[in-house]
Amino acid sequence: MPTTEYYDDKVVRLFLLAAAVWGVIGMGVGMYAAALLAWPGLSLDLPFLTFSRLRPDHTFGVIFAFGGSALMGTCYYVVQRTGHARLAFNRLAEFTFWGWQLVCVLSMLSMPFGITQSKEYAEPEWPIDILIAVVWVSFGVVFFGSLTRRRIKHIYVANWYYGAFIIAVGLLHIINNLALPVSWIKSYPIYSGVVDAMVQWWYGHNAVAFFLTAGFLGMMYYFVPRQAQQPLWSYRFSIVNFWALISVYMWAGAHHLMYTALPDWVQSVGMAFSLVLLMPSLGSAANGLMTFNGSWHRLKTDPAAKFMVISLVFYAASTFEGSMMAIKTVNALSHYTDWTVAHVHSGSLGWVAMITIGSLYAMAPRALGREMHSHRGMELHFWLHLVGTLLYVAAMWTAGVTEGLMWRATEADGSLTYAFIDSLLAIKPMYWIRWFGGVCIFSGMVVMAWNLWHTADDARAHLIKPIPVPIPQPDMHQTPAPLPAMN
Ligand code: HEM
Ligand code: HEM
Repeated sequence: MPTTEYYDDKVVRLFLLAAAVWGVIGMGVGMYAAALLAWPGLSLDLPFLTFSRLRPDHTFGVIFAFGGSALMGTCYYVVQRTGHARLAFNRLAEFTFWGWQLVCVLSMLSMPFGITQSKEYAEPEWPIDILIAVVWVSFGVVFFGSLTRRRIKHIYVANWYYGAFIIAVGLLHIINNLALPVSWIKSYPIYSGVVDAMVQWWYGHNAVAFFLTAGFLGMMYYFVPRQAQQPLWSYRFSIVNFWALISVYMWAGAHHLMYTALPDWVQSVGMAFSLVLLMPSLGSAANGLMTFNGSWHRLKTDPAAKFMVISLVFYAASTFEGSMMAIKTVNALSHYTDWTVAHVHSGSLGWVAMITIGSLYAMAPRALGREMHSHRGMELHFWLHLVGTLLYVAAMWTAGVTEGLMWRATEADGSLTYAFIDSLLAIKPMYWIRWFGGVCIFSGMVVMAWNLWHTADDARAHLIKPIPVPIPQPDMHQTPAPLPAMN
């Protein structure tokens, strides 16, 4: 008689709380960076408080510390539920938690002191890079090891996305960070000139593709049907979109280097693939939204479902916008302006943060064995986040188009109509509005951290009951309906 097996949720809970804490820190730094652009004197002339030092701290904090912790935690949760099996190598899984937190703390503390490789989204210096590689490979071993332990023959689509995210990010990280160290805190990339730029943006763009998109689509494909209490609208379509997305994304990175020294034909390839990318992007967004058909009433009462639906709308909007910005003539207007920042945040605050928050609110009560401490807290968070994001994005769109048009305006004799300072003065009110949007979003994150902390506290007081792994019905040689397991 086999003994009952329980899901390994301890590491899931640790990642859940870490995501909430890093969300507050990363977005807090973002809010401060936004304030510095509106009121530059705030840095008090202290080097570690200047915009240039804190901007990479913000991007690392939100993408890798907040997003990374949420992705790893949900990945461990999902692979167990969809395979009806415990995590493989639970000690290694705990190592990935502590290792990743160490990576985040070291990176966040070193960047304000100017220790950086100066490669966007790959700033940490080489010793931290090696630690990232070790943790990442361990993460892959736990994930793929857990997949091999599954009792369900079919691999549910969410795991395809998580798997692609793990393999691609490992590959990108190692190749882009090949460098020659000259001291413990300084190294030089092995690439130079335009090759360096191309490798960096192959990495940068695919960090968006596989970290900020594929990973979060994995989250979406599990938690959206789960929260809508319906099977995925089209399971087959989700697989088609998967293959289309991963085969197209890798070729689009050159759209970050339009009108540079990169050969023109490479820029055109980047533009063409970016336009094709529209199809799998809109396909996934439609699949997620259509899954709510028949469940729209849940939006009245369920804040997690609200976050998910709005995140899918932003996913569709930001990817449509991205494809348009990749058209050379549009990019000529948008590049170097705040339009790019608007696009980034409609993708990251609208899509990434909202699908994460929705999924965390869906997962926390199950992983902690208790209802969320405050339903009104979740409602308040939803409205703070939505209003903040709309203010942020609308302000930056306005600022971006204003800058683009002012910079290209010329007089009859060919001289520039405006000096650069004129464009800065024109967009100043937009920077105030963006900062206020950031305050709303940051406040929402504090409410979430408070709510999760109290839920975890209630759970600890009543001892968290482990959840038994169900014995699969029917047997493992049959494909289950494409609705994820319920607990
Ligand atoms: C409270 C919310 C947030 C605020 C106030 C905020 C603010 C900012 C500011 C001021 C910048 C610098 C813009 C510039 O260089 O001109 C920035 C850049 C950036 N932020 Fe945020 N941010 C927030 C949330 C997020 C989140 C949740 C993510 C990702 C998940 C994110 C990802 C980024 C990225 C990737 C950049 C670089 C953009 C670029 O190079 O064009 N931000 N943010
Ligand atoms: C079909 C999908 C997408 C396409 C074709 C696309 C295209 C683009 C283009 C053309 C740029 C401007 C490059 C420049 O002028 O410098 C850009 C910037 C960016 N996009 Fe997207 N985008 C897509 C989706 C997304 C999503 C969903 C996110 C976030 C979750 C995102 C995050 C970013 C970031 C962070 C940058 C700024 C990079 C930097 O300069 O630091 N993109 N994207």
